[in-house]
Amino acid sequence: MSTITNAEDPNQRPAVIGEETDPHGEGVRRRDFINIAAVSFAGVGAVATVIPLINQMNPSADVLALAQIEVDISKIATGSAIKTVWRKQPVFIRNLTAKEIAEADAVPLSALRDPQTLEERTKPGKKNWLITLGVCTHLGCVPLGAGAGENKGPYGGYFCPCHGSQYDTAARIRGGPAPKNLVVPEYAFKSDTTVQIG
Ligand code: FES
Repeated sequence: MSTITNAEDPNQRPAVIGEETDPHGEGVRRRDFINIAAVSFAGVGAVATVIPLINQMNPSADVLALAQIEVDISKIATGSAIKTVWRKQPVFIRNLTAKEIAEADAVPLSALRDPQTLEERTKPGKKNWLITLGVCTHLGCVPLGAGAGENKGPYGGYFCPCHGSQYDTAARIRGGPAPKNLVVPEYAFKSDTTVQIG
């Protein structure tokens, strides 16, 4: 902070730059306060207007219900799978056998086109539950292998009848033109027997 010396009156205290020197300083301060108060009220008004807008943009309960589904998996026996539908897309939920898990674990990542372990594609402690979209990553056909007696392809997972893509027991791409593994959607276990997808 710097000072200015008043040469005419040596007894007068030097003025400090930044200090209020306006004889009507009180008025200025009062005006500042009124301005700040007005801006603050404008801010509150803006927030009050924005909150209903944001609430309006939130999805309604029926839209949310379509975005998430709950599936009872208690009837899916080891070694079998079911097909369900989520957001208009087929979803495969498969209960892997110990042998299928071991087969998936035995594959080195270096042998995979889209390297991922079975652990990375399942939930901790639930390695037997493989949940993927039933949509081939080549051109979007529905692969075979989730239904009883369907062709699972040479790697024991899924086989796409459109152009022959082959997926293994972790639904990872192993042969044919598809570039990627079957997609694992967002999901969570609500209990040991209920899965929420979405
Ligand atoms: S769409 Fe599946 S192999 Fe082409």
